[in-house]
Amino acid sequence: MMKNKIARTFEEYYRIYRESVQDPEGFWSEIANSFEWRKPWDKVLEWDFMKPEVQWFIGGKLNITENCLDRHLKQKGDQTAIIWEPNDPKQPSLHISYKELHVRVCQFANALKNNGIEKGDRVCIYMPMVPELAVAVLACARIGAVHSVVFAGFSSRSLSERINDSTCKMVVTSDGGYRGDKILRLKDIVDEALLECPSVEKCIVLERTGESIEMEDGRDIWWDDAMEGMTDFCEPEIMDSEDLLFILYTSGSTGKPKGMVHTCGGYMVYTTYTFLNTFQYKPNEVYWCTADIGWITGHSYIVYGPLCAGATTMMFEGVPSWPDLGRFWETVDKHKVNIFYTAPTAIRALQKADPALVEKHDLDSLRVLGTVGEPINEEAWHWYHDKIGKGNCPVVDTWWQTETGGFMISPIAGLTPTKPAFATLPMPGVQLAIMDQDGKEEKGNVVEGRLCIKFPWPSMARTIYGDHKRFYDTYFSGFSKKYFTGDGCRRDEEGYYRITGRVDDVIIVAGHNLGTAEIENAIDEHENVCETAVVGFPHDIKGNAIYAFVNTYHKPKDEEALKGEILDLVSRIVGPIAKPEKIMFVSGLPKTRSGKIMRRILRKVAEGNTQDLGDISTLLNPDIVEELIDENIR
Ligand code: PRX
Repeated sequence: MMKNKIARTFEEYYRIYRESVQDPEGFWSEIANSFEWRKPWDKVLEWDFMKPEVQWFIGGKLNITENCLDRHLKQKGDQTAIIWEPNDPKQPSLHISYKELHVRVCQFANALKNNGIEKGDRVCIYMPMVPELAVAVLACARIGAVHSVVFAGFSSRSLSERINDSTCKMVVTSDGGYRGDKILRLKDIVDEALLECPSVEKCIVLERTGESIEMEDGRDIWWDDAMEGMTDFCEPEIMDSEDLLFILYTSGSTGKPKGMVHTCGGYMVYTTYTFLNTFQYKPNEVYWCTADIGWITGHSYIVYGPLCAGATTMMFEGVPSWPDLGRFWETVDKHKVNIFYTAPTAIRALQKADPALVEKHDLDSLRVLGTVGEPINEEAWHWYHDKIGKGNCPVVDTWWQTETGGFMISPIAGLTPTKPAFATLPMPGVQLAIMDQDGKEEKGNVVEGRLCIKFPWPSMARTIYGDHKRFYDTYFSGFSKKYFTGDGCRRDEEGYYRITGRVDDVIIVAGHNLGTAEIENAIDEHENVCETAVVGFPHDIKGNAIYAFVNTYHKPKDEEALKGEILDLVSRIVGPIAKPEKIMFVSGLPKTRSGKIMRRILRKVAEGNTQDLGDISTLLNPDIVEELIDENIR
């Protein structure tokens, strides 16, 4: 039973962890037994990291939505499944019960079928944080369609690229969305994207903002029209444990975004178990994760994990800064939130606000605080712990990735003694390895190196959609028989883990993963740009910000105007979140004799740390370094 695997004391965590390593198959099959399977699995695990191939609960049959919805109906039918808090606090919030959610999901699942969607078809979902987004996700899972949710802050180019990569047959979107005092015209963005997407046959459009939009005859259907006459039950498609559940794109250090593939059985088991174990969720508690469902955090810990666990999960449409920087705290009190889970970048922004915005709220309902997405600095950790948790709430710093599907390293709320800025200890079933420069595992306790995982866990991504070789090259080729995370990590004398940040060319800006190549390619599209190099540099609130070094064909006549054009270009091609904070025009980029850009030097210049540039003797063009330093000071 899953219950026996949920630690209730710190000693128990160690016992459970040991058990999970000694007998992983026995451990996970006991947990998996607590779910509804239409047919039990024949074999728990098969794996080979050399290929790489990983399969969990082989031969098992299930539908994840039966576990998220149907199985709760008898006991919890009237319990709130989703609390929805709208962008505008003056508008009413919604409480959607498990029964109601089940009906809505079934109706929309029938609508999808009615519009030609079948098991295995890919459906792109590009929506604001409204309940229909969760409904659309679950409806896809209900009929075995593979959802690919694209965050509604991405540009039309990024959207069409993702739609085409997985040849989606349908897009589900809305006329627009609210974000603070702004309206995003999402359907316009979809219209532009679809000019380039031959695979899309239908587009279902939810009315949210009521602004006038174009509807294309034969392709576009209003959500309400699609729902008209749909019955309130839809027989779930019986899926194989290893059938695709969803694709979610994440930025890579090179090339186009990677469509990470997650499958049904293992993902369900792992996200539910880690949700219950890490947060120590208790029946009837209100849980609020502030992420967007467009990211993995929203998939695993707003939708699937909490709903499978029968929890009450909140969806928030707005932003933390509107109508003012007290919105999160006001909302915690309004809905008596017990578990609050957000990102360090939000914490840092709110920490700088007027303290009265926190002090005027009780925040007494809070029991657990969580963070995710990037390393949390000690100052932010303390503020969160002391001012928001009033010293009474454990802070669970959860380290994980789109690729891992669920928490990998995290304290167990209230059990694991926490240490600021440390993600602490591995989850049961997670076998970590810190690797040195030469590719050897560092066995000692106090070590620093690259973080790898040496044994499979149920929710790991199975491949990159359409490119298994890239999956191998990116994650399994660096260290033999190990999954390489791309992160650096330190282990201390107590065996606690502290993530030190990315060691590749992925930059995490305000919690969003951005690949340098994507931004560089966008800037290179400008007719006066010959070559660009993008690096990250530390930023007070966003954690990191983007610094672009741009080599132009002609010296710009008006630098400010060109900067504006470049920002526009990045915004249009990648999305507003990828806009550089600083741009420097240069007459060349520092390169090695083999022509590789020396990013190490650019990083130092961006940090303003030009005293200590290290060895530049191997540069093809050492003169350029002086120019960079002069420009930076200017
Ligand atoms: O560098 C790590 C950082 O975010 C990366 C994964 O990003 P993404 O796939 O977008 O998933 C984010 C949400 C799970 C990691 O490789 N990261 C995530 N959580 C933490 C973190 N870095 C430090 N501490 C964390 N708690």
